Amino acid sequence: MANEGRPVLVTGGTGTLGRALVTTLLEDGRAVRVLSRQPRPASAAPAVEWAVGDLLTGEGLAAATDGVGAVVHCASNPRRPAEDVEAAVQLTLAARAAQVPHLVYISIVGIETVPTQYYAAKLRVEELVEDSGIPWTVLRATQFHDFVAFLLDALSRTPVAFVPRGVSDQPVDVHEVAQRLAALSTGAPAGRVEDMGGPQVLTAMELMRTYLAGTGRRRWVWTVPLPGRIRAFRAGGHLTPEHATGRLTFAEWLQGRR
Ligand SMILES: NC(=O)c1ccc[n+]([C@@H]2O[C@H](COP(=O)([O-])OP(=O)(O)OC[C@H]3O[C@@H](n4cnc5c(N)ncnc54)[C@H](OP(=O)(O)O)[C@@H]3O)[C@@H](O)[C@H]2O)c1
Repeated sequence: MANEGRPVLVTGGTGTLGRALVTTLLEDGRAVRVLSRQPRPASAAPAVEWAVGDLLTGEGLAAATDGVGAVVHCASNPRRPAEDVEAAVQLTLAARAAQVPHLVYISIVGIETVPTQYYAAKLRVEELVEDSGIPWTVLRATQFHDFVAFLLDALSRTPVAFVPRGVSDQPVDVHEVAQRLAALSTGAPAGRVEDMGGPQVLTAMELMRTYLAGTGRRRWVWTVPLPGRIRAFRAGGHLTPEHATGRLTFAEWLQGRR
């Protein structure tokens, strides 16, 4: 096991994926350090080291990266994609200065095929990681069940639920992605590894019907065309049916959530 004993720094360790990753690493017996802009909350596991820092300003990053065996970069701000690029610049500078031996980045399947600002930023961050001079690993995953449920919830608040026509998704369990990242972070730097997708490709209509059944909501469901450039989602570049390695289905995840 590479760099055993030295902590794994999880940026975004307070987020959806980051929390799952911290739990997985602790269960695996790894030492963990979380980077957050917030002070340590009372709910943080006692075993976790806490580093307060901001990836945008670079504040606290020298201390956060000091002595770590790997960094897993999960922090992100989809509402301000340009900030992800700036954050990656700051993180790679600090990690290189601290001679971090392994930088792991979580990315998204198909970011080069679907023209959104967020995906363009993720692609740029991948390039920054690859060119950082730090040994690296990049894993691309499909959408998490949590995120798909969040979207479906927003689309079904009204008596009629609207879903995009001709679009499918392949949601994956965030804990399974966390397990894969934990394993990658303890192994040798591997470059771009095989994408990770959920077990099923489902149309937006199928996902909505599953969501409504799983949450007990009764709605009419209509399909609507996707607007603008995000029509590219219809081509399915964000799917990876050949890497459907996730096991927990969306329906099972919903059942577990209840
Ligand atoms: N959601 C999906 O479906 C999905 C699918 C595939 C890949 N991914 C990728 O997985 C990663 C995690 O996604 P998520 O949904 O788990 O994220 P999330 O829940 O929104 O969490 C975002 C995290 O980023 C941290 N953060 C934001 N700005 C920061 C800054 N300036 N300095 C330090 N930390 C900062 C936040 O920490 P504090 O607020 O504590 O500072 C928070 O923990 C992202 O890279 C995303 O692209 C997501």
